[in-house]
Amino acid sequence: MRGRSVSLPPVLLLGAGRMGGAMFAGWAARGLAPSVLVDPSMPAGLARPGDILVPAVGGVPDGFSPAAVVLAIKPQMAEAALPPLGRILPAGAVILSVLAGKTIAGLARLIGPGAAIVRAMPNTPAAIGQGMTAACAAHGVTPAQTALCQALLEAVGEVAWVDDEKLIDPITAVSGSGPAYVFLLAELLEQAGIEQGIPPAMARQLARKTVQGAGALLDASPEDASALRMAVTSPNGTTARALSVLMDAAAWPANIRAAVQAATARSRELA
Ligand SMILES: NC(=O)c1ccc[n+]([C@@H]2O[C@H](COP(=O)([O-])OP(=O)(O)OC[C@H]3O[C@@H](n4cnc5c(N)ncnc54)[C@H](OP(=O)(O)O)[C@@H]3O)[C@@H](O)[C@H]2O)c1
Repeated sequence: MRGRSVSLPPVLLLGAGRMGGAMFAGWAARGLAPSVLVDPSMPAGLARPGDILVPAVGGVPDGFSPAAVVLAIKPQMAEAALPPLGRILPAGAVILSVLAGKTIAGLARLIGPGAAIVRAMPNTPAAIGQGMTAACAAHGVTPAQTALCQALLEAVGEVAWVDDEKLIDPITAVSGSGPAYVFLLAELLEQAGIEQGIPPAMARQLARKTVQGAGALLDASPEDASALRMAVTSPNGTTARALSVLMDAAAWPANIRAAVQAATARSRELA
């Protein structure tokens, strides 16, 4: 934890589940001012002394004036949960939404006209402060509100901004859903190792540590992923033989492209 000084203004968090909870923990570590969490499941252990945890928007204390209202409920809860929020929204507060598939226009319809909305798409490594979030600010969001959203989002990882909200759909397909593709790789590598006779526990260890170590190396290196790949590929060696299977035009190049296309299309459907 970075000292006790306050560096983030008060926030109203709607939905303190996996993503909301991870973000709140990141803000708390950066010195979040006493804030209010709204969640019907009343998650224990998240609120600090001075924070207020209530089960519904109706329980938010009169006079509480957050600088940001962060939406981290499930998208299907938005229709029910957001209209009451519009009625208590203080002037000047920015709305930061991480709801998958909910557009800025759709959120504005539910919250009310004039809301300053930033739409963001984080990913699950945010839970350990290693997230990748892309964000898009609606017209009318001020530079100060954008800066506050940047500070809130970078508490759980890296942040990139886009001007065109339509890009959030392919971004969802690449980095939002992306960790699941990497987890699948770990699963498949483990299974294939077992099929080649490696004891299951060891196959699991090899697969997990390989995915983790390769990711860490990628993070630590200024080189392109392709350069790192080529650096471990001796001509006519074992890696080259495996890559000739994976890099066949009909294999990973086609599959990854098709997967990202499918997820992009699904994100558009949800919106
Ligand atoms: N998890 C990720 O990796 C990830 C990545 C990108 C975006 N997101 C987005 O983050 C949002 C939350 O996802 P999650 O995985 O964190 O879901 P989650 O763990 O289910 O958290 C949602 C929380 O909201 C609570 N809730 C339900 N209705 C509410 C209401 N009316 N007011 C306040 N809180 C309410 C839920 O309580 P109950 O359990 O009692 O219903 C739950 O604790 C989603 O919109 C998702 O699209 C998540």
